[in-house]
Amino acid sequence: MTRRIGILTSGGDAPGMNAAVRTLVRAALSFDMEPYGIYRGYHGLINDEIEPLNSESVSGIIQRGGTILKSARSQEFMTPAGIEKAVNNLKQHQIDAVAVIGGDGSFRGALELMKQGIQVIGIPATIDNDIPCTDYSIGFDTAVNTVMDAVNKIRDTASSHERIYIVEVMGRRCGYIALYSGLACGADSILIPEAKFDLDEVCTRIKRAYDVGKSHNIIMVAEGVGLNLKPPVENISVTIGKHIQEHTGYETRIVILGHIQRGGSPTVNDRLLASRLAYQAVRLIAQGQTGKMVGQIEKQIKAFDLDYALAQTKTIDMEYYHLAEILSTL
Ligand code: F6P
Repeated sequence: MTRRIGILTSGGDAPGMNAAVRTLVRAALSFDMEPYGIYRGYHGLINDEIEPLNSESVSGIIQRGGTILKSARSQEFMTPAGIEKAVNNLKQHQIDAVAVIGGDGSFRGALELMKQGIQVIGIPATIDNDIPCTDYSIGFDTAVNTVMDAVNKIRDTASSHERIYIVEVMGRRCGYIALYSGLACGADSILIPEAKFDLDEVCTRIKRAYDVGKSHNIIMVAEGVGLNLKPPVENISVTIGKHIQEHTGYETRIVILGHIQRGGSPTVNDRLLASRLAYQAVRLIAQGQTGKMVGQIEKQIKAFDLDYALAQTKTIDMEYYHLAEILSTL
């Protein structure tokens, strides 16, 4: 009997997910497997939103952001009854392997399927880049480029009005987007949850910059700076902006970039990363492997046990952080 492989996207969508779906479908066909799309993540798996896919199903999507399989968060899947429904639906369709494209929460769901005898492989996809065992997750490169385009535009108006801009970016509890985009944009300060900072010291740096003739200041803030507080604070940049304006006397504006970071046509890097990771995922399924995620480490595609990966914490590359500090010092 021809093997059938289910494909789902789960969690926050990320540019490049469609490139991964496209590769999974066409690679599965090249291994004489039948690809099936599971729509709306685990929610759709429970509600039997499962349909066969073919090569034409994924034609013309490599350049599209988002996910044609849609995504959804599912509380029901966290229950034994939900998992049972999901597994029964897979068995009804004679699907015995599932490729899960998403982040750590999606991978935990994959492990639940594995406990029920379903072969699973995880493909890391989230703009947050907070998944261990891979240098980058699908979507991160595109998101950082989106932020860079936005900050380039903000810099124009900041210098025209000689203002300070606080730019808040996504990343949940991880500072990768803020760090990489801040370094790439020459931000004057980068505030991330992984590194302590003193707002008064930030204000001193701002005043020193204006004193030597700088026409504006760009402060990158990762949303995790607020989400990691107890209780968590949404839109922490508003608080930070007020403090900076009061303590420097310079006009300060807040830009919370929000969900534009989740969209857009994936970059070359994300398309190539998605294609390479997804192809390796199909190879692992064809070999009968399960309970693993694929990752790219220094350009090499590798596989890691999901149990191991989920027990790790992705750390920030502090070399980038210290480089940004040096380069922003006047
Ligand atoms: O995990 C991706 C992400 O975009 C985070 O950076 C962000 O905090 C969260 O999703 C937003 O979730 P939602 O799309 O449900 O508002």
